[in-house]
Amino acid sequence: MELSRTLDELDFYLNDFTKRFEKKLLFSKKINVLDAGCGNGLVMLGLSKRFGNKIKLVGYNQKKEHGNFNSMKLKGIKKSIISDNEFKQVKNNISFTYFDVDKKFLFKKNSFDFIYSLASIYLYQDKIKFLENCNNILKDKGVARIQLFEIKNSDKNISKEILGKPMEYNAFIEIWDDGKLISIKDYFKQFKGVNIGFGKKENGNKIVYVEIIKQKKLDFGLEFLYAIDSHKIYDSWMGVKSIYKVKK
Ligand SMILES: C[S@@+](CC[C@H](N)C(=O)[O-])C[C@H]1O[C@@H](n2cnc3c(N)ncnc32)[C@H](O)[C@@H]1O
Repeated sequence: MELSRTLDELDFYLNDFTKRFEKKLLFSKKINVLDAGCGNGLVMLGLSKRFGNKIKLVGYNQKKEHGNFNSMKLKGIKKSIISDNEFKQVKNNISFTYFDVDKKFLFKKNSFDFIYSLASIYLYQDKIKFLENCNNILKDKGVARIQLFEIKNSDKNISKEILGKPMEYNAFIEIWDDGKLISIKDYFKQFKGVNIGFGKKENGNKIVYVEIIKQKKLDFGLEFLYAIDSHKIYDSWMGVKSIYKVKK
């Protein structure tokens, strides 16, 4: 499991999301930002270095061994993001917390100006509930960008992405309506404030993300049926496929 993506990767994957942070800071003194599934927190480290006391960052992980202050410092210094001295200052804007998204969601309504998430939702059981929760915890006019899939540049169908497993296990979200499998992109299109966007990876692959602009209420109208953890089928595979049915 890759746990050490950096600020450069955030900007590539989520299409210069941090430009929104800069815009918001023209009118606000401080922004609150959530890194959903932060790993070692190197993105937070880069953001804290770039924005200083104007940013307050919270990152969560399922387990402490996935990332904490110690690993952040070690990896941050190794990757030359930060010096030992700078770390003391930069860490004041950052906190880590630990829980399983599928069991509880720790944050209060209207807490964050921005939420970003890299390579994390594909491991959750109920991805749609997580997206609805993101909307809840965003402040008014807040924005979330959540990486959904990685797809090969040549693939046209966004439900197909490549991680070395059979295709049927690579569609991490399936939405069924009247016995028909429907495209996530088409389904999401009907919801105000919800957009699919595309970022890129250095190797030419595309990143598909969903952007949610805070809505008073966001209900995708989907019933969660079940989730298949591909890791349980075969050790080397990662990712949970979540199956939904459109509610009538
Ligand atoms: C592949 S790592 C990505 C880490 C980081 N975003 C990066 O790109 O380097 C997946 C992250 O999602 C978190 N995660 C996975 N499943 C989770 C769950 N059920 N609840 C909370 N966090 C979870 C893990 O703790 C880990 O930090």
